[in-house]
Parts: sequence; structure tokens; C-alpha cells
Amino acid sequence: MPLVSLFGWKWRLVLSALLFCAVIFELDAQEQRTTPGRTAKPSKPKLGKSTNKGVRAVMAKPKMKATPAAQAQTFLTQVLNRGKFKKVGETISVQSGDTLELRCRGKPVQWSVPPYLEEDDDGRLSMVQHERYGSLTLVNTTGADTGGYTCYPMYCEDTDCRKEYNKAVKVFVFFPDPQELFVPSSDYYEVIQLRTNWPTILPCQVTSPEAKVSLHREFPPVEVAVDGTEISFNVKKGFTIHRPRPYHAGALYCVASLGNLRQSSTKYMLIYVNYPMAPPAPVIQASSSSVVVGENLLVSCTVMGEQDTFIEFNWEYPGQQIGRPLYTQETISAVSAGAARQQSQSVLLVDEVRDVDQGMYTCTAHNLQGAKSVSTTIKVVPKGKPKKP
Ligand SMILES: *[C@@H]1O[C@H](CO)[C@@H](O)[C@H](O)[C@H]1NC(C)=O
Repeated sequence: MPLVSLFGWKWRLVLSALLFCAVIFELDAQEQRTTPGRTAKPSKPKLGKSTNKGVRAVMAKPKMKATPAAQAQTFLTQVLNRGKFKKVGETISVQSGDTLELRCRGKPVQWSVPPYLEEDDDGRLSMVQHERYGSLTLVNTTGADTGGYTCYPMYCEDTDCRKEYNKAVKVFVFFPDPQELFVPSSDYYEVIQLRTNWPTILPCQVTSPEAKVSLHREFPPVEVAVDGTEISFNVKKGFTIHRPRPYHAGALYCVASLGNLRQSSTKYMLIYVNYPMAPPAPVIQASSSSVVVGENLLVSCTVMGEQDTFIEFNWEYPGQQIGRPLYTQETISAVSAGAARQQSQSVLLVDEVRDVDQGMYTCTAHNLQGAKSVSTTIKVVPKGKPKKP
């Protein structure tokens, strides 16, 4: 493995992509400086009572489809005032400030809540297991609590329990907040990668299902057409750009209006990243496969690829072990052969070859799809002896 950190190369690639694309739109420099770091709930103390640590991983998994039969077996009820119960559908609204109480049949059950609540539980959330059902209670609610709440009935054998994913029931709870039409975000702006043909979500989540939401571009200031095909809106998710193209890039934000209230969301910096179709296929070539001590050696590593895709090179070479410094030169050049292609090349320079430089030279080329290594062996011959032909 190369000494040059393997760890993090993907980030560096993404970063270079971001830098490259930064010219696409103008960042308002002043706004960047004054990033206020608005947090969803600045003053609430953290009591650190964290619940169901494992649950987030569950939420990241592809959604399990509940079969109709399974749905009939499990259901969620909302406990209303004065001991009234109501079976919940896909979404419910609870006025912010009020208490949310859900019950789910099962012994036992596990709950998952919006990630923000899981991280920042400040004692407002409690989960209690009763004889035949589990209950979830959230008090002093705010718009920030808006999100998906899921109950997983558990299947137990002795003390060994596992979630019954196919019986999970989920409800999306809105907490309409008269002051906040959008679920507050901790960031003043969010950078989002637009990947070629990969659906991208602008997660401007409203706290009320009644809010009317539109999408806007900052420069030039226009409303973005939402036709339901190229871009669509879902009140539980925000906007989705289904097949990102370079022209979608830029600074966008959502505007919600309800009654007399009209508010803008966090800003989304959409950056278009050209994803290569495949991992790189590097070719390695040395100036000579056998070098006389004292001469110079060049080893080149070349990748032909799609235009505007980023390649990172790492080298492994014999002198590395004794701390022989590495000199490389990297170049990118356009090649027009029908489709726009580019040649990325890294050249390793070894000055005044010594015995220790004999051995295997390996180049690893990375792009956003993966990496590939290629090697060549170099022989070092003493001075005075004739070079092998
Ligand atoms: C809920 O709000 C009330 C009134 O502000 C407060 O007294 C109470 O401590 C809060 N409860 C929790 C669990 O935060």
C-alpha cells in the first residue's frame, strides 16, 4: 500500500471536484464569512440520554415494504386528549408545543425517530414498553421534530430479539410551527453533489403539509420550474432533481408560504460532478527497464478517460522504504477522438539512480468509481558494465 494516504482519497477527489466547479456560480463571499451556524435548537441542554443507537443504521437501509398482511397485524395509534385513540395513516400533524403520543402493538417494540432527535435527545422523548404495546411520547414539540417515526415489533426467542422489518409501521409527523415553516437546519448553506443521472434531493422539509413550497435560483434570481418529471416535490422529502445535468448547478433555495408567512430555506449549493463511467485503466511505462547507476529514470502512468473526471495517482517504489523522496509531475491534456476524452498522466522522476532503486514500481490511479494499480520492474546495473540490450 502506498505511504501516501489511501484513506481520504475519495474526499480529496470530491474536494478537487468542488474546487473545480466553484467557478460555476458565484458564492456570496460576505454571506460565507458570516455563516451564523444556526442550530436547530440552540439553547436546549443535552442530557445525553440517547435511545436506540442502532436504529439509524436501520433507517439508512432500503425501506422494507410492508406486505398488506403485515400491515394488518401491526398498527400505530395516536393517543389524543382525554384518552381518545386514533389509528394513524401515512402522515399526521401535531401542533408544535403539543405532545405526540404513539402506541404500537407488540411485545416488545423498538422505535426509530428522526436522526436529529436521536442525537439531541434532551429528555423530551420517552419510550415505554407495556404489557401488550410500546408507547412513544414526545413533549414540548417544535417544528424541528418533523419527520418519520417508525415502530418495529420485535421477535424474541428467550432473550434474543430481532426487529421484524416486514412488520414495521411508519408515520410521518408534521409539527406545524407558526414561526418556522421549514425544519430548521444547523447549516447556513448545504453543499450538495449533483451526480450525473443520479437523483438528488434538496431536503427543504416543511413543518406543515399545508405550506406551499417553490424552488428558486439565486443567480439569476428566478423561480425554478417544477414539472413533476425533471424536478418534483414531495412534502415529506423536499425537491428531487431526477436526472441532474450541469445546468442544474448553482445556488438554490426553497420558499414556503402559509397564510401571511413566507420564509426561505437554507441555501443549497448544487455542484455538478462528472462521475466517470468506470474505474480508471492506467498504463505504466518506464524510460528503460534497466538503468545504469547514476542515470535518471522516468516512470509514467497514463490514464485515458472521460473529460472533466478527476484522477488521483499514488506511487509505490523501492526507494520509499529508505525515504527516497518522490518527484512526480502530473498533467492533464485533452484528446479529441470523437467523444471528448482526456489523458491524465503522472510521471515519477528518479534522479541519479542508485542500487536501492531496483525493484517494482507501482502506480495506483483513483477516480470516483474506484482504483486500479499497475506495476513495472526496474533493474539497476552497476556502472561500467554494459547495459542489457
Ligand atoms: C416542557 O415545557 C415546560 C414548560 O416550559 C417545562 O416546565 C418542562 O420542563 C418541559 N419538559 C421537558 C421534558 O423539557
